[in-house]
Amino acid sequence: MRAIAVIAAGGSGERLGAQAPKALVVCGGRPLLAWCLDAALAAHGVAGAVVAAHAGALPAFELVAGEAAGRAGKPVVVTPGGPSRSHSVRAAIDAAGQLGVEWDACAVHDAARPLATPALFDACLAGLADADCVVAAAPVTDTVKVAGPDMVVTETPVRAELWAAQTPQVFTRSCLERALDVDDEHLANATDDASLAEAAGARVKLLQWDGPNHKVTLPGDLDTVGALLAGGV
Ligand code: C5P
Repeated sequence: MRAIAVIAAGGSGERLGAQAPKALVVCGGRPLLAWCLDAALAAHGVAGAVVAAHAGALPAFELVAGEAAGRAGKPVVVTPGGPSRSHSVRAAIDAAGQLGVEWDACAVHDAARPLATPALFDACLAGLADADCVVAAAPVTDTVKVAGPDMVVTETPVRAELWAAQTPQVFTRSCLERALDVDDEHLANATDDASLAEAAGARVKLLQWDGPNHKVTLPGDLDTVGALLAGGV
């Protein structure tokens, strides 16, 4: 299969408290987006990438994307993202024709996860031999409680069955296009794209990933993830 990567980078990074959109925040000496693009484009199965960018800073996104494209020798297109994460992914798919490459699979990755490796992208893509969608995931180590707004616990799911979904999340092209073909409310409520594929009846599998793949969300994450990046993880 020939894949493209979509980097979901349209978030503002409000929780990070940064002045710039989160994907442009420097961590481990480079913007988060640069780490993600280099990893995705270095994967053997990835022929090019579309960045769904924060619409308020397109020139800065173009600069980072252009440099990554030059390093990899693969095309990168930047397009404005949407009001939610899955809207941004749909905008990226709509712009993918500008890459000028044929593709039948897509690896969707958060710009907030700069530790993902090319090997992880390729391992997820290999999993499409047996699934419509493959999600990098780690076993949950905390016991998880379900509670209402009053904080009263209503359920304790069996921990052995719980996995924390990460990105990359890879899809066959037909699966992703079908998953994203839903109304705006469904897109806005999705916290990942695999859940939209599940709702569309796709066969979604997890790929256990034990390497570091933290999501940069809060200011303290920049120190932790920056140290791992600087250490060459
Ligand atoms: O907010 P959260 O950390 O869950 O966002 C996950 C990813 O989705 C981030 O990389 C962010 O840039 C991206 N995103 C997006 N478009 C939005 C909101 C978030 O591409 N409108």
